[in-house]
Amino acid sequence: MTVRTGFPDLDQIAERIDKVPSLDQKQLEAEEIALLGRKSGVLTLKAKSLGSLPLEQRKSYGAKVNELKVLADAVIGGRKKELQVSVSGVLVRGEDLTMPGRRQWIGAEHPVTRVVDEIVDIFRGIGFTVAVGPEVETDWFNFTALNFPADHPAMDMHDTLYVDAPPVPGERGGRLLLRTHTSPVQIRTLLESPPPVRVVIPGLVYRNDPFDPSHAPAFSQIEGLAVDEGISFVDLKATLVHFAHRFFSPTTKVRFRPSFFPFTEPSAEMDVECHLCHGSGCPACKGTGWMEILGCGMVHPAVFEHSGVDPERYTGWAFGMGPHRITMLRYGIPDIRLLYDGDMRFLEQFVTAGQRGSGAAGQNTR
Ligand code: PHE
Repeated sequence: MTVRTGFPDLDQIAERIDKVPSLDQKQLEAEEIALLGRKSGVLTLKAKSLGSLPLEQRKSYGAKVNELKVLADAVIGGRKKELQVSVSGVLVRGEDLTMPGRRQWIGAEHPVTRVVDEIVDIFRGIGFTVAVGPEVETDWFNFTALNFPADHPAMDMHDTLYVDAPPVPGERGGRLLLRTHTSPVQIRTLLESPPPVRVVIPGLVYRNDPFDPSHAPAFSQIEGLAVDEGISFVDLKATLVHFAHRFFSPTTKVRFRPSFFPFTEPSAEMDVECHLCHGSGCPACKGTGWMEILGCGMVHPAVFEHSGVDPERYTGWAFGMGPHRITMLRYGIPDIRLLYDGDMRFLEQFVTAGQRGSGAAGQNTR
């Protein structure tokens, strides 16, 4: 009991007022009438009865009755406010306390970033390190050192974006361009660190391509390079099969088809069984049951010569894959431009539970 009036009957009323904050809506309505009702509220009756008391008692008793009336009024009013939540959960007045808070969009990994990270992690797990190189290259690194013949069509202005700057002098110089693949970093890596070498090289590459559903003028690649004594095509296949099993599924089938690149010999392209239809043919794999994911091959001796590696002593293999394309294949994305638009309605679909941050799924602030 918090209020001591000095009058037992009033102390009882004070005790009832103490309990008001725990009453529910119905009880509160009843108690309000019972205490303050105009006809028969107990405090109303006490006030009315003051007239029949002796003057001395009337003063002190009356003061306490008044105090209790004011107190009861305040406590009941406070409780009413607390309970002013309607059945639908909306406050009649003031704020809706049941409305979920607005979460700020804290961002998440872009699907291509996630794919790049996953791929790099798989190779890191088997002893590869990560190397990077410049996006602006000389044509020596991008083409010549990689054994492209001087008149190769890839060097044509139609395919390669050249930089409007004076050519770089020197043996490894030449015209400046935006690298068309990550393969020049093979040369840079070997020039910097002699074998044994095992690296993966993620990065952006540029081509003078139209921006259409299957082309973009800038896209990602991941290069792989392994150079050591006694490395064979068996190592290449085993490594890439391991990759496909880790990245797609442990039972994913792969196949190698002969191909051509100036900087590998022999060369191949690797397909993985379409993970959407499991080989039976669907729109994603254009009915073939297979999806082409990378080019690869044994490092051409000419590449070793340009990189200061003895081709009599060392052999190696290389591959190049396109994470934008792999992202499209993995998630069944029909148009590469969706990966560049930055449209949250598209990107949000790739946000995993762990990236959502705390709180239930709900509105983001846009
Ligand atoms: N650089 C090649 C491309 O862009 C891919 C590749 C890399 C092929 C390494 C073989 C070896 O198409």
